[in-house]
Amino acid sequence: MALFLLLLSFSLIISSSAAADTITTNQSISGDQTLTSKDQNFVLGFFKPGNSSNYYIGIWYKKVTTIPPTVAWVANRQTHVSDHFNSELKIIDGNLVLLNQEKVQIWSTGVNISSSTSSNHSAVLGDDGNLVLRNGLGQNIWQSFDFPAHTWLPGARLAYDNKTGTKKLLTSWKSNEDPAEGLFSLELDPIGKQYLIKWNKSTQYWTSGSWDETNKLFSLVPEMRLNYIYNFSYVSNENESYFEYSLYNPALISRFIMDVSGQVKQMSWLDATQQWNLFWSQPRQQCEVYDYCGAFGSCRESGLPFCNCLTGFTPRSQSDWDLNDFAGGCVRKTDLQCGRTSEKYGFLKISSSRGDDHPNSTSLAAASAGECESLCLNDCTCNAYSYDNGCSIWTRELLNLSEDSNEITINVKVAARDLPSEKKNNKVIIGAVVGSVIGVVLLVGFIWFLMYRNKRRYAGKTAVEGSLVSFVYRDLQTATKNFSEKLGGGGFGSVFKGTLPDLSVVAVKKLESVTQGEKQFRTEVSTIGTIQHVNLVRLRGFCSEGNSKLLVYDYMPNGSLDAHLFSTKKLLDWKTRYQIALGTARGLVYLHEKCRDCIIHCDIKPENVLLDADLCPKVADFGLAKLVGRDFSRVLTTMRGTRGYLAPEWLSGVAITTKADVYSYGMMIFEFISGTRNSEQSEDGKHKFFPMRVANTLIDGGDLLTLLDPRLCGEASLEELTKLCKVACWCIQDDEENRPSMSQVEQILDGLLDVNMPPKPRSLQLFVDNGDDVVFFTESSTSQTSQTHSNPSSHVSQAKSAASV
Ligand SMILES: *[C@@H]1O[C@H](CO)[C@@H](O)[C@H](O)[C@H]1NC(C)=O
Ligand SMILES: *[C@@H]1O[C@H](CO)[C@@H](O)[C@H](O)[C@H]1NC(C)=O
Ligand SMILES: *[C@@H]1O[C@H](CO)[C@@H](O)[C@H](O)[C@H]1NC(C)=O
Ligand SMILES: *[C@@H]1O[C@H](CO)[C@@H](O)[C@H](O)[C@H]1NC(C)=O
Ligand SMILES: *[C@@H]1O[C@H](CO)[C@@H](O)[C@H](O)[C@H]1NC(C)=O
Ligand SMILES: *[C@@H]1O[C@H](CO)[C@@H](O)[C@H](O)[C@H]1NC(C)=O
Ligand SMILES: *[C@@H]1O[C@H](CO)[C@@H](O)[C@H](O)[C@H]1NC(C)=O
Ligand SMILES: *[C@@H]1O[C@H](CO)[C@@H](O)[C@H](O)[C@H]1NC(C)=O
Ligand SMILES: *[C@@H]1O[C@H](CO)[C@@H](O)[C@H](O)[C@H]1NC(C)=O
Ligand SMILES: *[C@@H]1O[C@H](CO)[C@@H](O)[C@H](O)[C@H]1NC(C)=O
Repeated sequence: MALFLLLLSFSLIISSSAAADTITTNQSISGDQTLTSKDQNFVLGFFKPGNSSNYYIGIWYKKVTTIPPTVAWVANRQTHVSDHFNSELKIIDGNLVLLNQEKVQIWSTGVNISSSTSSNHSAVLGDDGNLVLRNGLGQNIWQSFDFPAHTWLPGARLAYDNKTGTKKLLTSWKSNEDPAEGLFSLELDPIGKQYLIKWNKSTQYWTSGSWDETNKLFSLVPEMRLNYIYNFSYVSNENESYFEYSLYNPALISRFIMDVSGQVKQMSWLDATQQWNLFWSQPRQQCEVYDYCGAFGSCRESGLPFCNCLTGFTPRSQSDWDLNDFAGGCVRKTDLQCGRTSEKYGFLKISSSRGDDHPNSTSLAAASAGECESLCLNDCTCNAYSYDNGCSIWTRELLNLSEDSNEITINVKVAARDLPSEKKNNKVIIGAVVGSVIGVVLLVGFIWFLMYRNKRRYAGKTAVEGSLVSFVYRDLQTATKNFSEKLGGGGFGSVFKGTLPDLSVVAVKKLESVTQGEKQFRTEVSTIGTIQHVNLVRLRGFCSEGNSKLLVYDYMPNGSLDAHLFSTKKLLDWKTRYQIALGTARGLVYLHEKCRDCIIHCDIKPENVLLDADLCPKVADFGLAKLVGRDFSRVLTTMRGTRGYLAPEWLSGVAITTKADVYSYGMMIFEFISGTRNSEQSEDGKHKFFPMRVANTLIDGGDLLTLLDPRLCGEASLEELTKLCKVACWCIQDDEENRPSMSQVEQILDGLLDVNMPPKPRSLQLFVDNGDDVVFFTESSTSQTSQTHSNPSSHVSQAKSAASV
């Protein structure tokens, strides 16, 4: 018992000493000992990144529970220790130094110490994550904030020193298991007042755009307007120029990192999910990171892994590659052998972006592609050639290759035996011929069998293109009982219910006035067919016979959202409405950001959100805008009884972006709140435009519950209601740049991102009510263009003509 008490008190002493935030001259840190900052924000000690067995001195977040801990700063980035129990962090001659297991100094704060004050130095870990070395007079002589690793902490400066011309950079880790400096860094450009990301400190591949002091944002990062999480400020004087930032909400744990992926990322720690939530990252696409896959590696955006070696190449270091450290790139499986002729070479044809590292010798005297090829073949330093109105030769390695682009065709020299489908000798050829004859016979038999089986089982289906079924018109006619059961109509055509021979129920859409040719139609449709998401209606097949163009979709038993929102019979409770808002946002995020080619829906409204048996929302009609061509006057004129889900840019004729969908989405959200069309708000016999009321109530701090659909009897979460009101107001901002992206909307509704009070949308001025009349102001006209209607249903086309005056 006594022994137990002794042990207990001993361990108490240990832990209390470990909780200190300071090392003084005669103390050291070894093994699992740590320093903890005063308010328990940060911890300093030895850590092991990922599955590595190497130890480093680092500072990590105490309140963040990830395993391994989330490290914000590393002292000995380049040199690890392997036995942390026999390594020591201590102050020697006034400097903080790290001695490894052999007592060799591998890291030091490296300050020139005048001997007079060296006796009583100390190092203190602050609650901001800054490790400060102080001299006997209490002056700071060194701080970790001046030597950032990959994390930019609030309060730290990413600076340019005007006296020495040096920069403080954020540099990525080499891999998740190695904190050594990687190839990607974020630095300040003091002239342009902007941040740049560079590869190997030389090739720039991203910029924040210059700092806009009035709006407090970087010109190419307009989304900073929406989520006020970081309060950036810019300082410039004769000594230095720098940015620093603070958090508007000091209780939030948030970090800004230069990630191993070559992207800068901003993340916040969410206690609720115990996870880091990424809310911003740039460049958006992985393959926009310069040379992410290394020499002879090729990047592709769709489908993991992002990086693959070209055919005939293999990773330079398989172990690095396995850790997603692609910087080493790839090497030929068979080296180019200079001077020796026994090795035969061929060329691998690849397409890439023109942005690829340039050939370093061009326009050689080669009159044809063949001559260019033989030039490369006969030059043993030639890695690749390209013939495009001239012969280009690469003698250096090929960098920044991308599979997603085909701007340029490059022929890469590879040993013949590493190229695919190489005829080795006659025996093999004969074998292959016999083999393929047998194969073809079997294949034909199998296809015949499949067709026969399908014909019996599934009369409606005739052929399969990708994942899509190509239907025969006659069969769809039968399935829909000659198009007798109409489900609805829309801007693109009418929809009918049908039952296929396998008894599955479908919705068949008869497209009107498809402007595209047959081939383009099929291409477009098969693109739509590849898009699958739980919040998007699935396209099952199509029919294209002459002028008849039909699309076959999954049938949604609960019909479209308008029937639920605006009908007196069915009532969607608040929770369901919120879930529908979230699900619709997710569907749109997928269309806007996750597909290979971004898809703008162009016609978001309750009619185009369908509900399945469980009231899960599915966005319908996506991709059709492209199918029927870009003439949207039709869409405009067929929007009956609705007061516009259309963003102002539709009327002004500028190019439409995904932000047009965001606007329409916002307009729809107002209707989720009110349960009535925005156009049909009526109060005391007067029309009052609902979005305007929401904006006013929000900004004046009024009671939002008064805005709620009265049928809900106040049954709604005020927090969710506030969120929806704010999001909706942000979505309908006049300036596209002020509108959030759909993924930000999703994050806000998910509770992952806070949202600020929106400014009053100027576009609402377009809809100022004037008794029963509607007055329009167009952006371009200085004088007011007013038009009087007694019938709001005609306003959209009227607005169009007003704008085109
Ligand atoms: C450190 O230890 C030495 C010898 O034990 C002692 O002379 C010195 O005063 C100590 N310094 C501090 C700051 O405690
Ligand atoms: C460590 O290795 C395990 C098993 O190989 C793997 O599942 C895990 O993801 C690795 N952890 C990290 C951080 O790489
Ligand atoms: C320290 O002092 C030495 C000699 O005076 C000088 O060469 C060196 O540059 C100084 N180092 C730093 C970091 O100031
Ligand atoms: C060392 O400095 C601290 C304050 O910085 C002071 O409290 C302490 O008395 C000093 N110790 C010695 C031995 O000078
Ligand atoms: C990065 O640049 C340095 C010199 O500026 C060069 O020696 C090194 O090879 C470069 N790294 C890569 C991966 O190209
Ligand atoms: C933003 O930062 C600046 C400079 O640090 C400070 O003056 C200002 O009060 C901060 N704004 C808010 C809202 O915290
Ligand atoms: C940097 O220093 C130079 C002279 O050393 C001065 O001309 C210049 O104005 C300074 N830059 C800033 C931003 O103060
Ligand atoms: C610039 O540095 C000098 C010398 O270190 C210092 O005296 C001056 O106050 C600094 N200027 C500013 C604006 O910090
Ligand atoms: C690297 O490739 C990407 C994607 O193909 C391209 O957008 C970019 O411009 C290229 N970068 C450079 C510096 O060539
Ligand atoms: C191309 O680059 C390689 C490697 O950098 C160099 O050895 C060669 O001389 C260059 N060729 C020309 C024509 O510039």
